[in-house]
Amino acid sequence: MTRQPLRLAILEAERLLAEAGVESPRTDAELLAAHVLGVERGRLPLIPLVDPPVVDAIGQLVAQRAKRIPLQHLTGWAAVGGITVDVGPGVFVPRPETELLLEWTLTSLQNVPDPLVVDLCTGSGALALAIANARPDATVYAVDNDPVALSWARRNAEARTAEGDTAIRLYSGDVTDGALFAELDGLVDAVVCNPPYVPRGTRVAPEVSGHDPVNAVYADEGGLEVIRPAVSCAARLLKPGGVLAIEHDERHGQSVPALLSGRRVLSEVDDHPDLAGRPRFATARRG
Ligand SMILES: C[S@@+](CC[C@H](N)C(=O)[O-])C[C@H]1O[C@@H](n2cnc3c(N)ncnc32)[C@H](O)[C@@H]1O
Repeated sequence: MTRQPLRLAILEAERLLAEAGVESPRTDAELLAAHVLGVERGRLPLIPLVDPPVVDAIGQLVAQRAKRIPLQHLTGWAAVGGITVDVGPGVFVPRPETELLLEWTLTSLQNVPDPLVVDLCTGSGALALAIANARPDATVYAVDNDPVALSWARRNAEARTAEGDTAIRLYSGDVTDGALFAELDGLVDAVVCNPPYVPRGTRVAPEVSGHDPVNAVYADEGGLEVIRPAVSCAARLLKPGGVLAIEHDERHGQSVPALLSGRRVLSEVDDHPDLAGRPRFATARRG
């Protein structure tokens, strides 16, 4: 059994992924190789040669990735804040752009002891669990209306609790319900929300159209169908001084801040770009 240079296997994987139109072929090739080898990506240069079965296993995953199956469905996890969450069919894969919303929220809560936080549209539980991980003193409520997403969130929540994180409170509910979390009215320090916001009819990458749940991605009313009730819900839940951070489509850099400004109780309305400089999330504070 002749050992083969890992570097060559990765180069070949990169070539195939580039041919298939994958956006970051080198990164994905390395992450799949690292997954097969059970090491962190940064350690790949320390592995010059691999056995043929390893090359085969990398090749099989690369072939699936070339069919535009999301990288995270192949590795089974996605990173968010200081943790990873399990993801797969039926749940939205957390995106790197949401990290900035998370960071903004954690910074806003820096001087708030024992904060009460609500994550609307929690999906895999990504934001709620990352906040619970970063702030063990926080009480975090999370809600989603999709039973499959909730089953992933429950699984992730159990895994995080087993790792020692504070347990989150996970609920099945709809953001359009005007009485959602009514018992928390006026008590919440931070509301985070990454809702479905892509205007229907928008063309998206095959990884999204073929694998993210439709109701996690698209929204009617030009993409504002869930954002509008989420803003109302946040305005009701927040305590004076409490903050809202809500992600939106890059075409909503004016309309979502305008929705926030339209709420008498919200002030300090701002919009923030993502890592690519596109308008990505709006924030406000309850006055
Ligand atoms: C874009 S995903 C975000 C998931 C997670 N917050 C993240 O950042 O990875 C949107 C989530 O909102 C949920 N959702 C859609 N409409 C909803 C509604 N009306 N009420 C509650 N959840 C909703 C979907 O099921 C999906 O899990």
